[in-house]
Amino acid sequence: MRPLRLLARQLSQAAPLSRPTNARPVKIVEVGPRDGLQNEKTPLSTELKVELIDRLVRVGLNDIEAGSFVSPKWVPQMATTAEVLTSPTLARLRAENPSLSLPCLVPNDRGMHALSTLLDKHAEPLTNEVALFVAASKGFSRANLNKSVAEALAVQPPIFEAAKQRGLKVRAYVSVVLGCPFEGYVDPKKAARVAKELLDMGAYEVSLGDTIGVGVPRGWEELLNECERAGVPVDKVAAHCHDTYGTAVANVLHCVSLGVPTVDSSVAALGGCPYSPGATGNVSTEDVVYALHESGIPSSFLPEPHPGSLLAWNDRGREGRTRFEELCEAGEWVSEAIGRTNGSRVGKAVRGRKQREAQKKAKL
Ligand code: HMG
Ligand code: MG
Repeated sequence: MRPLRLLARQLSQAAPLSRPTNARPVKIVEVGPRDGLQNEKTPLSTELKVELIDRLVRVGLNDIEAGSFVSPKWVPQMATTAEVLTSPTLARLRAENPSLSLPCLVPNDRGMHALSTLLDKHAEPLTNEVALFVAASKGFSRANLNKSVAEALAVQPPIFEAAKQRGLKVRAYVSVVLGCPFEGYVDPKKAARVAKELLDMGAYEVSLGDTIGVGVPRGWEELLNECERAGVPVDKVAAHCHDTYGTAVANVLHCVSLGVPTVDSSVAALGGCPYSPGATGNVSTEDVVYALHESGIPSSFLPEPHPGSLLAWNDRGREGRTRFEELCEAGEWVSEAIGRTNGSRVGKAVRGRKQREAQKKAKL
């Protein structure tokens, strides 16, 4: 039996921890335009950021982190978030896709205030959701937020309150849940405690970030168990994997098999971690879509149990395959725009296959 088929069968036979039998398709949250681009050396112009979001919506992604209201001194790549959100193209996308979600990251009161001021100036709702973040380790918290973990938690309630008053949902990240560039191993109990606090403050979901990409399926399982023990149910969790050690897709599949309903990913594996030399980007959306689909797991990208393979081994499932190929093209396009190689393994393989096919055609 082919390895992927075997994996699909094993996944379908495994008894998940608490995945409901009528579970919805795995939700994919595309984080490339924020978490991805913020860590890329070459900044993308507002126009190209908007084009990236446009392409991602057109291929069928519905949850796309659009930017952040953070210090432009620290993260100059995100300085144009207000322009992105207010662009006519995004207005059209929101009008055409009422369920489109474009969360924005706010690190503090000041970021929330900047977003609120922008929202006040526009009659149209520019976003329905904010994201905030706290680290699981002291060292990372100090480097990324200039605060201890306790101090970082203490600044969150006013952000929750302001978001609530505006009817904005709040998604919370916990960074460095499995390893920290300054402290090494992170006790999953610490990450679970931070996740629980953020859930209690009102987050509808907590995204657990393996920011430096050291996690393996066993570590993720321990972390999810600690979360359950701390009172964070698995259906409130999103898996945010990075691929530094090549284990991100395995981690995603394992988390999903354990009942995690949401996966964060980034087109072309955009991103990295400024404090961790050698850390690669977020797991790529192309790789996640491919792995889920070929394992028989419906996702928000391909919600129906889909008849054909994305590898075009037969003629079935053409519509989904076309969108998948367009997603891969978006990854190629943005990689070229920022002048780096495509970080998606699947994206590279699809490009290679297309080149071969084009060469074959040319020979005929
Ligand atoms: P601070 O406590 O004010 O201290 O902000 P600071 O010294 O870092 O402030 C620097 C300057 O930024 C000051 O201006 C502040 O007023 C200003 P100055 O007085 O020098 O003229 N400032 C701001 N400007 C605009 N918008 C704001 C804002 N806040 C302060 N919201 C803080 C500390 C951490 C908030 C700030 O340094 C900052 O915004 N840093 C960037 C943080 C960031 O975006 N990190 C990346 C996100 S986390 C992440 O990516 C991981 C995650 O994706 C998960 C994963 O991948 O695993 C979530
Ligand atoms: Mg990330």
